[in-house]
Amino acid sequence: MTETFTIAQLSDPHLSSLDNVRARDLLSKRVLGYLSWRLNRRAKYRPEILAELVRDLKSQQPDHTVVTGDLTHIGLPQEFQEAKDWLDALGMPSEVTIIPGNHDAYVEADWDSTLALWIPYMGSDIAGVAGGCERQACFPSLRVRDSVAFIGLSTAHPSAPFLATGSIGHSQLQALERVLVETGERRLFRIILLHHPPIPGTVPWRKQLTDHASFRSVVARCGAELVLHGHAHCTSIRQIVAQGRIVPAIGVPAASARSHHPDRGAQYHLYRLTRQVSTWSIQLSVRGYSPAEQRFMELGTPIALEQSLNFA
Ligand SMILES: [Fe+2]
Repeated sequence: MTETFTIAQLSDPHLSSLDNVRARDLLSKRVLGYLSWRLNRRAKYRPEILAELVRDLKSQQPDHTVVTGDLTHIGLPQEFQEAKDWLDALGMPSEVTIIPGNHDAYVEADWDSTLALWIPYMGSDIAGVAGGCERQACFPSLRVRDSVAFIGLSTAHPSAPFLATGSIGHSQLQALERVLVETGERRLFRIILLHHPPIPGTVPWRKQLTDHASFRSVVARCGAELVLHGHAHCTSIRQIVAQGRIVPAIGVPAASARSHHPDRGAQYHLYRLTRQVSTWSIQLSVRGYSPAEQRFMELGTPIALEQSLNFA
C-alpha cells in the first residue's frame, strides 16, 4: 500500500505592519526592533510577496502547513492579533501548525494577549499530552495527522539587545525524549519543528541555539525522521545522524523577503512523503519568488532527501 502526505513549510514571514505603534510600547528592547523595522526591515519583508506565497501554496494543496516562527517583528499584542487573522486565512487550525520564534518573544510579555492567541495552531491535539498549553508548558506540542507526528518546540525567549539566541531547556528536552519514544513506538513519521537551527555554524553565534548539542543528542538517542527550522533566512540542508540513519535538518528563507540573492529571496518548501509498506521516502521541492515575474515558481528539480526509513 502506498501512502502519501505533503507538507508545506514557510518561516519568518514577519508579517505584522507596526502601524500606529505608541511610544509607550517601545520602552524596552522593542525600540531597537522598531527602528530596525523603520530603517530596513519594512522594505525587506513585503506583504504582497507573502500574499503571493499563500496564493501559490494553496494551489499546491498540501495536506498540512507548518510555520517555523517569527510571525511578528517585536512581539506586540497587536502583531499577535494580525498574525492570528493571517493564520485564519492560511488554513484551519487542523491544517496548520506553528511554533514561536525569537521575534515572537522579543521582550517579556503578557501571555494572554500574545502567544495565547495562537493556541489553536500551536497547542497539542490532546491537552495535557505534553503538559497542556500554558507558556513554556505548551511545548513540546504534539499534533498527529494521518501517520505524521508534528512535534513543536519553543526556542523563543527574550534575549539581550543585539542578541537573537534561543534555547530549548532541560525540561522541554526531557519531555521531547518521551514524545519521540512514544511516537516512534507508534511508527509515526516524526517531524520536529524548532525556530533556531540545531546545527552549529548555520547562523552566527549571536543568533545561535545555545543547547544545540543537547538537542542533537536527544535526536541521536531517540530518532526522528525530519527536523525543520527557520531563523537563518536562507536555505540550509544539513543532517543529524540518529541510530545509524540520517535525519535531514532543513531551513527555509523568510517567506516575505525581497532579495535578488538566490538563497535569500522568499521561498517555501514542499515535502512529499511517500510510504510504501514499511519504508518512507522524502522529496523536497523548493518554490521561490521571482521578482521579475512577481510570482512563485519551482526552483530546480525536486531533491530526494538522503533517507530511507525502514519500520520493518
Ligand atoms: Fe528568528
